[in-house]
Amino acid sequence: MQNFISVNDVVGINALVDQALKCKANPFSAKELGSGKRMGLLFFNPSLRTRISTQVAATNLGMEAIVFNVDKEGWALEFEEGTVMNGTTVEHIKDAAPVMGQYFDILCIRTFPALKNKEADYAETVINQFIKYAGVPIVSLESATLHPLQSLADMITIKEIMNQHPLVEGNQRKIVLTWAPHVKALPQCVANSFAQWVGAWGEAEFVITHPKGYELDDRFTKNATILYNQDEALKNADFVYVKNWSAVHDYGKINTDDHEWMLTNKKLSVTNSAKIMHCLPVRRNVELSDEVLDSENSLVTRQAGNRVWAAQAVLSEILKTI
Ligand code: CP
Repeated sequence: MQNFISVNDVVGINALVDQALKCKANPFSAKELGSGKRMGLLFFNPSLRTRISTQVAATNLGMEAIVFNVDKEGWALEFEEGTVMNGTTVEHIKDAAPVMGQYFDILCIRTFPALKNKEADYAETVINQFIKYAGVPIVSLESATLHPLQSLADMITIKEIMNQHPLVEGNQRKIVLTWAPHVKALPQCVANSFAQWVGAWGEAEFVITHPKGYELDDRFTKNATILYNQDEALKNADFVYVKNWSAVHDYGKINTDDHEWMLTNKKLSVTNSAKIMHCLPVRRNVELSDEVLDSENSLVTRQAGNRVWAAQAVLSEILKTI
């Protein structure tokens, strides 16, 4: 693996999930793999799970990890080619990225979308410029459109549950991604990425449900059934992934009248006693009710725990190539 930006960097999803589960069973088995290697974690935006789980994974592999909060501690970076830098930006990515490539063996980057211009966000300028200029492998810690380490952790979580409760051969699990209300406009990254990974995996029935106007970019939803009726979508679901995202077509906008989409126990009564997933952080009693989040079927803490093993599996693959 050269970089980890999306599911397209993965040769086999099942093999990578199995590797992550091996890391979970024996966290220090590859303690020498990262020995003498140093990783930079560059944050343009806040994080709890991503920054800590990736550092823990690096430590398990014997690698040093240095966190740099670019947004708060670094020079304001310029990403536009050929621009006259007589404004607020101080350093061009063409100069900064190669320098960081001198300091680190792997660079991990978190950069959220501005949610103002779809073309600009979906061009993934920040992460692509780091790939172009840093000269070392790049790992996405969530980019403008995707969150691949979260999706890998989600796949690990789903497969763990499936391994514990095997189905009769020929039967399929049903996974539902449901839109949820929120007080502010959020990126589409987690939803895009989850749809991309579940679609590429292809071993479950996959339904996405949302109010009209929240259609995701269809490059990520090719293998999903889209339903506007949440109750219909939830029928017989085994896994329900809850997530808000802002509109793609009316880019970055939210409609504040969609509160009835909050997931409750009553809505879940038509599911197959579904397991509940969310990437966190979550707005309680806005996206999901307390009763759902605090129920035995909630997988949210397990998902967050599995972020370590997702990161460790990916970093192991990259370390083998450098
Ligand atoms: N799920 C997730 O990426 O969490 P953080 O934003 O806290 O890293």
